[in-house]
Amino acid sequence: MELLRRKIENEGIVLSDGVLKVDSFLNHQIDPELMKEIGLEFAERFKNEGITKIVTIESSGIPPAVMAALELGVKVIFARKKKSLTLTDNLLVSTVYSFTKQEENTISVSHQFLDETDNVLIIDDFLANGEAAKGLIDIVKQSGASVIGIGIVIEKSFQKGAAELKELGYRVESLARIASLVDGKVNFVEELEE
Ligand code: G4P
Ligand code: NA
Ligand code: NA
Repeated sequence: MELLRRKIENEGIVLSDGVLKVDSFLNHQIDPELMKEIGLEFAERFKNEGITKIVTIESSGIPPAVMAALELGVKVIFARKKKSLTLTDNLLVSTVYSFTKQEENTISVSHQFLDETDNVLIIDDFLANGEAAKGLIDIVKQSGASVIGIGIVIEKSFQKGAAELKELGYRVESLARIASLVDGKVNFVEELEE
């Protein structure tokens, strides 16, 4: 996705140890025009798959998930990372290990909004080691619903998540794929190599 690629090139900041900071449009300040285009792109890629729900995880997965859902005409459910005062009944729960923070987090979704009739598109902002995606897959499976695919805004292809999810048989659609982050520069996976 050319627009996203340019945005990453112009505004992304390469931090140490393979981390890309994109706080100006994705992780802190949100660019709604870009999100709209991202939503259109996900919708285009999954429009013929009979998607009935989008599942994401708070917080940064929510904007792209909502825009894609608007285009596909479905609702979005976001997994919560913290206990909620009101979300207490009928919870589907999984654990997600964060390598970045070196801690295990419990994520939860209410069974009320997801069942065996659903065809789910999972969306997230980043794909690194794939822990968040695997936690979401676990929750969708517990509900009896089917995972149709995984839509990612920025994939760090040099980490193991994308390869592992594809190995497991999932369709992974990443709008930007980063091959490496070296000397402050973002190197994208060349489309021809795919
Ligand atoms: P994984 O799920 O793929 O295994 O990822 P990991 O544990 O490494 O990621 C933990 C958090 O860090 C996630 O956000 C993830 O989106 C984010 N992250 C991972 N790599 C990068 C990166 O290179 N750049 C940025 N900007 N973020 C990265 P989170 O803690 O769940 O936060 P949020 O969704 O509330 O923003
Ligand atoms: Na994030
Ligand atoms: Na995220």
